[in-house]
Amino acid sequence: MSDEKVAAKSEFTLPSLFVDKNTSYHYANHRHSYSEELFRLISDFCKEKLENLNLAVDVGCGPGNSTVGFTKHFKQVIGVDISESQIALAPKDIPNCQFKVGSATDLEFLPAASVDLLSCGLAFNLMPKKEFLAEADRILKPGGTLAIFGYSSPRCSDQVMDDLLQWMHDKVIPYVGKELIEAWELYPDLELPYPGWIRRDDLMITQMMSPEGILGLGKLHRRFLIENGHEEINLLPEIEDRMAAALQEIRQYSDGLDFEMKFKTVVIMGHKPLQC
Ligand SMILES: C[S@@+](CC[C@H](N)C(=O)[O-])C[C@H]1O[C@@H](n2cnc3c(N)ncnc32)[C@H](O)[C@@H]1O
Repeated sequence: MSDEKVAAKSEFTLPSLFVDKNTSYHYANHRHSYSEELFRLISDFCKEKLENLNLAVDVGCGPGNSTVGFTKHFKQVIGVDISESQIALAPKDIPNCQFKVGSATDLEFLPAASVDLLSCGLAFNLMPKKEFLAEADRILKPGGTLAIFGYSSPRCSDQVMDDLLQWMHDKVIPYVGKELIEAWELYPDLELPYPGWIRRDDLMITQMMSPEGILGLGKLHRRFLIENGHEEINLLPEIEDRMAAALQEIRQYSDGLDFEMKFKTVVIMGHKPLQC
Protein backbone atom coordinates (compact mmCIF):
# COMPACT_ATOMS: atom_id res chain seq x y z
CA MET A 1 0.00 0.00 0.00
CA SER A 2 1.35 3.50 -0.71
CA ASP A 3 1.98 5.91 2.20
CA GLU A 4 -0.83 8.16 1.00
CA LYS A 5 -3.36 5.33 0.94
CA VAL A 6 -2.34 4.03 4.35
CA ALA A 7 -2.34 7.52 5.86
CA ALA A 8 -5.75 8.16 4.30
CA LYS A 9 -7.12 5.10 6.09
CA SER A 10 -6.26 6.65 9.44
CA GLU A 11 -8.44 9.43 10.82
CA PHE A 12 -5.49 10.67 12.75
CA THR A 13 -3.36 13.48 11.38
CA LEU A 14 -0.12 12.93 13.27
CA PRO A 15 0.97 9.69 11.58
CA SER A 16 1.50 11.79 8.47
CA LEU A 17 4.46 13.19 10.35
CA PHE A 18 6.42 10.02 9.70
CA VAL A 19 5.35 9.62 6.07
CA ASP A 20 7.68 12.46 5.22
CA LYS A 21 11.04 11.13 4.01
CA ASN A 22 13.03 13.88 5.78
CA THR A 23 11.40 13.10 9.10
CA SER A 24 12.01 9.39 8.63
CA TYR A 25 15.64 10.09 7.82
CA HIS A 26 16.09 12.27 10.91
CA TYR A 27 14.22 9.75 13.01
CA ALA A 28 16.34 6.84 11.77
CA ASN A 29 19.55 8.79 12.39
CA HIS A 30 18.70 10.13 15.79
CA ARG A 31 16.58 7.33 17.15
CA HIS A 32 17.48 5.58 20.37
CA SER A 33 17.98 1.90 20.88
CA TYR A 34 15.99 0.45 23.71
CA SER A 35 17.90 -1.52 26.33
CA GLU A 36 18.34 -5.30 26.13
CA GLU A 37 16.80 -5.30 29.59
CA LEU A 38 13.51 -3.93 28.24
CA PHE A 39 13.21 -6.63 25.55
CA ARG A 40 14.06 -9.33 28.11
CA LEU A 41 11.61 -7.96 30.66
CA ILE A 42 8.76 -8.00 28.12
CA SER A 43 9.69 -11.46 26.83
CA ASP A 44 9.86 -12.85 30.39
CA PHE A 45 6.43 -11.36 31.07
CA CYS A 46 5.11 -13.20 27.97
CA LYS A 47 6.55 -16.46 29.28
CA GLU A 48 4.45 -16.17 32.43
CA LYS A 49 1.47 -17.30 30.32
CA LEU A 50 2.87 -18.87 27.14
CA GLU A 51 5.54 -21.53 27.09
CA ASN A 52 6.76 -20.93 23.53
CA LEU A 53 7.37 -17.47 22.15
CA ASN A 54 6.54 -17.86 18.47
CA LEU A 55 5.34 -14.58 17.02
CA ALA A 56 5.91 -10.98 18.15
CA VAL A 57 4.37 -8.11 16.20
CA ASP A 58 5.66 -4.58 16.81
CA VAL A 59 3.33 -1.87 15.51
CA GLY A 60 4.43 1.70 14.84
CA CYS A 61 7.87 0.12 14.50
CA GLY A 62 9.51 3.06 12.70
CA PRO A 63 12.90 1.98 11.30
CA GLY A 64 12.83 -1.12 13.52
CA ASN A 65 14.51 0.11 16.68
CA SER A 66 11.67 -1.16 18.86
CA THR A 67 11.42 -4.41 16.88
CA VAL A 68 14.84 -5.99 16.39
CA GLY A 69 15.47 -6.57 20.12
CA PHE A 70 12.66 -9.12 20.14
CA THR A 71 14.36 -11.36 17.53
CA LYS A 72 16.52 -12.95 20.26
CA HIS A 73 13.44 -14.01 22.18
CA PHE A 74 10.82 -14.91 19.53
CA LYS A 75 10.91 -17.36 16.61
CA GLN A 76 9.42 -14.78 14.29
CA VAL A 77 9.10 -11.01 14.56
CA ILE A 78 7.12 -8.68 12.31
CA GLY A 79 7.42 -4.89 12.41
CA VAL A 80 4.49 -2.89 11.02
CA ASP A 81 4.44 0.84 10.33
CA ILE A 82 2.03 3.12 8.52
CA SER A 83 4.93 4.96 6.91
CA GLU A 84 6.59 3.47 3.85
CA SER A 85 9.61 5.70 4.30
CA GLN A 86 10.18 4.43 7.85
CA ILE A 87 9.88 0.80 6.70
CA ALA A 88 12.34 1.53 3.87
CA LEU A 89 14.96 2.33 6.53
CA ALA A 90 14.39 -0.85 8.56
CA PRO A 91 17.00 -3.66 8.41
CA LYS A 92 16.44 -6.33 5.77
CA ASP A 93 19.04 -8.91 6.75
CA ILE A 94 17.65 -10.43 9.95
CA PRO A 95 16.40 -13.93 9.09
CA ASN A 96 13.56 -14.12 11.63
CA CYS A 97 12.41 -10.52 11.19
CA GLN A 98 10.33 -8.88 8.48
CA PHE A 99 8.81 -5.44 8.09
CA LYS A 100 5.52 -4.41 6.50
CA VAL A 101 3.72 -1.19 5.71
CA GLY A 102 0.31 -1.17 7.39
CA SER A 103 -1.87 0.31 10.07
CA ALA A 104 -1.97 -0.94 13.65
CA THR A 105 -5.73 -0.66 13.54
CA ASP A 106 -6.06 -2.97 10.55
CA LEU A 107 -3.75 -5.99 10.75
CA GLU A 108 -5.82 -8.12 8.40
CA PHE A 109 -2.84 -10.25 7.36
CA LEU A 110 -2.85 -11.73 10.89
CA PRO A 111 -5.49 -14.32 11.83
CA ALA A 112 -7.40 -13.99 15.09
CA ALA A 113 -5.60 -15.35 18.19
CA SER A 114 -2.29 -15.84 16.33
CA VAL A 115 0.14 -13.51 18.10
CA ASP A 116 2.08 -14.07 21.34
CA LEU A 117 3.18 -10.45 21.80
CA LEU A 118 1.85 -7.24 20.36
CA SER A 119 4.21 -4.38 21.17
CA CYS A 120 4.04 -0.69 20.47
CA GLY A 121 7.07 1.52 21.13
CA LEU A 122 6.53 5.26 21.33
CA ALA A 123 3.59 5.12 18.95
CA PHE A 124 0.45 4.35 20.99
CA ASN A 125 0.02 8.09 21.50
CA LEU A 126 -0.25 8.53 17.71
CA MET A 127 -3.00 5.97 17.19
CA PRO A 128 -6.79 5.89 17.49
CA LYS A 129 -6.72 4.05 20.81
CA LYS A 130 -10.08 2.28 20.79
CA GLU A 131 -9.52 0.77 17.34
CA PHE A 132 -5.95 -0.17 18.20
CA LEU A 133 -6.98 -1.97 21.41
CA ALA A 134 -9.77 -3.82 19.59
CA GLU A 135 -7.37 -5.03 16.89
CA ALA A 136 -4.81 -6.00 19.56
CA ASP A 137 -7.46 -8.09 21.31
CA ARG A 138 -8.43 -9.79 18.03
CA ILE A 139 -4.92 -10.90 17.04
CA LEU A 140 -3.54 -11.82 20.48
CA LYS A 141 -3.71 -15.43 21.64
CA PRO A 142 -5.43 -15.93 24.98
CA GLY A 143 -2.58 -15.36 27.45
CA GLY A 144 -0.71 -13.26 24.86
CA THR A 145 0.88 -9.97 25.90
CA LEU A 146 0.13 -6.40 24.94
CA ALA A 147 3.14 -4.17 25.73
CA ILE A 148 3.20 -0.42 25.23
CA PHE A 149 6.47 1.34 25.88
CA GLY A 150 8.38 4.54 25.28
CA TYR A 151 10.93 6.95 26.69
CA SER A 152 11.02 10.54 27.86
CA SER A 153 13.16 13.45 26.76
CA PRO A 154 16.80 12.85 27.66
CA ARG A 155 18.84 14.17 30.58
CA CYS A 156 22.59 14.61 30.35
CA SER A 157 25.18 13.98 33.05
CA ASP A 158 26.99 17.18 32.03
CA GLN A 159 25.16 20.11 33.65
CA VAL A 160 25.88 22.61 30.86
CA MET A 161 24.55 20.25 28.19
CA ASP A 162 21.62 19.28 30.41
CA ASP A 163 20.66 22.96 30.73
CA LEU A 164 20.66 23.21 26.92
CA LEU A 165 18.48 20.09 26.63
CA GLN A 166 16.04 21.46 29.18
CA TRP A 167 15.89 24.76 27.33
CA MET A 168 15.14 22.91 24.04
CA HIS A 169 12.45 20.85 25.76
CA ASP A 170 10.75 23.85 27.40
CA LYS A 171 10.83 25.85 24.15
CA VAL A 172 9.27 23.10 22.05
CA ILE A 173 6.61 21.87 24.53
CA PRO A 174 4.00 24.58 23.81
CA TYR A 175 3.91 23.63 20.12
CA VAL A 176 4.28 19.87 19.79
CA GLY A 177 0.71 18.75 20.48
CA LYS A 178 -0.83 16.60 23.18
CA GLU A 179 0.00 13.31 21.44
CA LEU A 180 3.74 13.83 21.74
CA ILE A 181 3.44 15.18 25.28
CA GLU A 182 1.57 12.02 26.29
CA ALA A 183 4.58 9.96 25.20
CA TRP A 184 7.19 12.30 26.66
CA GLU A 185 5.35 12.18 29.98
CA LEU A 186 5.44 8.36 29.73
CA TYR A 187 1.73 7.69 29.26
CA PRO A 188 0.69 8.82 32.77
CA ASP A 189 -3.02 7.96 32.36
CA LEU A 190 -2.73 4.75 30.36
CA GLU A 191 -4.59 1.76 31.74
CA LEU A 192 -4.82 -1.55 29.87
CA PRO A 193 -8.14 -3.39 29.56
CA TYR A 194 -6.50 -6.59 30.90
CA PRO A 195 -6.74 -7.48 34.62
CA GLY A 196 -3.39 -7.59 36.41
CA TRP A 197 -1.60 -5.32 33.91
CA ILE A 198 1.59 -3.74 35.21
CA ARG A 199 3.56 -0.54 34.72
CA ARG A 200 7.37 -0.46 35.04
CA ASP A 201 9.08 2.89 34.87
CA ASP A 202 12.34 2.05 36.59
CA LEU A 203 14.25 1.32 33.36
CA MET A 204 16.63 3.62 31.56
CA ILE A 205 18.23 3.91 28.14
CA THR A 206 21.80 5.12 28.50
CA GLN A 207 23.48 6.29 25.35
CA MET A 208 26.52 8.35 24.41
CA MET A 209 25.70 11.23 22.07
CA SER A 210 27.88 13.65 20.17
CA PRO A 211 26.99 17.36 19.89
CA GLU A 212 25.84 16.54 16.33
CA GLY A 213 23.48 13.90 17.71
CA ILE A 214 22.04 16.39 20.18
CA LEU A 215 21.56 18.91 17.35
CA GLY A 216 19.76 16.06 15.55
CA LEU A 217 17.15 16.07 18.32
CA GLY A 218 16.61 19.75 17.55
CA LYS A 219 16.17 18.92 13.84
CA LEU A 220 13.61 16.26 14.71
CA HIS A 221 11.73 18.78 16.88
CA ARG A 222 11.78 21.18 13.92
CA ARG A 223 10.08 18.50 11.76
CA PHE A 224 7.45 17.99 14.48
CA LEU A 225 6.77 21.73 14.62
CA ILE A 226 6.47 22.02 10.82
CA GLU A 227 4.03 19.07 10.74
CA ASN A 228 2.05 20.60 13.60
CA GLY A 229 1.60 23.79 11.58
CA HIS A 230 4.29 25.86 13.32
CA GLU A 231 6.71 26.38 10.43
CA GLU A 232 7.37 29.88 11.79
CA ILE A 233 8.96 28.52 14.99
CA ASN A 234 12.52 27.77 13.96
CA LEU A 235 14.65 27.21 17.03
CA LEU A 236 17.56 25.69 15.12
CA PRO A 237 19.70 28.85 14.74
CA GLU A 238 19.36 29.59 18.46
CA ILE A 239 20.04 25.95 19.35
CA GLU A 240 23.20 26.06 17.23
CA ASP A 241 24.36 29.29 18.93
CA ARG A 242 23.65 27.89 22.37
CA MET A 243 25.40 24.64 21.47
CA ALA A 244 28.52 26.53 20.34
CA ALA A 245 28.56 28.51 23.61
CA ALA A 246 27.95 25.34 25.66
CA LEU A 247 30.81 23.50 23.94
CA GLN A 248 33.16 26.42 24.54
CA GLU A 249 32.31 26.28 28.25
CA ILE A 250 32.61 22.49 28.40
CA ARG A 251 36.03 22.50 26.71
CA GLN A 252 37.36 24.41 29.74
CA TYR A 253 36.90 21.39 31.98
CA SER A 254 36.61 18.37 29.64
CA ASP A 255 38.45 17.01 26.58
CA GLY A 256 35.69 14.58 25.64
CA LEU A 257 32.73 15.87 23.70
CA ASP A 258 30.62 12.75 23.81
CA PHE A 259 27.87 13.01 26.36
CA GLU A 260 26.15 10.37 28.44
CA MET A 261 22.42 10.71 27.91
CA LYS A 262 19.75 8.98 29.95
CA PHE A 263 16.21 8.42 28.71
CA LYS A 264 13.72 7.26 31.32
CA THR A 265 11.77 4.31 29.89
CA VAL A 266 8.31 3.02 30.68
CA VAL A 267 6.54 -0.20 29.76
CA ILE A 268 2.89 -0.89 30.43
CA MET A 269 1.94 -4.50 29.77
CA GLY A 270 -0.78 -7.02 30.40
CA HIS A 271 -1.92 -10.50 29.40
CA LYS A 272 -5.04 -11.04 27.38
CA PRO A 273 -7.20 -13.18 29.68
CA LEU A 274 -7.07 -16.91 29.01
CA GLN A 275 -10.83 -17.08 29.10
CA CYS A 276 -13.09 -14.24 28.09
C1 LIG B 1 7.87 7.90 17.28
S1 LIG B 1 7.85 6.68 16.06
C2 LIG B 1 8.27 5.24 16.98
C3 LIG B 1 9.18 4.32 16.25
C4 LIG B 1 9.73 3.16 17.09
N1 LIG B 1 8.65 2.26 17.46
C5 LIG B 1 10.44 3.62 18.33
O1 LIG B 1 10.10 3.17 19.43
O2 LIG B 1 11.37 4.43 18.22
C6 LIG B 1 6.13 6.46 15.78
C7 LIG B 1 5.83 5.58 14.58
O3 LIG B 1 4.44 5.22 14.61
C8 LIG B 1 4.00 5.15 13.27
N2 LIG B 1 2.52 5.15 13.29
C9 LIG B 1 1.69 6.15 13.65
N3 LIG B 1 0.42 5.77 13.55
C10 LIG B 1 0.42 4.48 13.14
C11 LIG B 1 -0.60 3.52 12.86
N4 LIG B 1 -1.90 3.81 12.98
N5 LIG B 1 -0.24 2.29 12.45
C12 LIG B 1 1.07 1.96 12.30
N6 LIG B 1 2.09 2.84 12.54
C13 LIG B 1 1.77 4.08 12.96
C14 LIG B 1 4.67 6.32 12.62
O4 LIG B 1 4.71 6.21 11.21
C15 LIG B 1 6.05 6.27 13.27
O5 LIG B 1 6.97 5.54 12.50
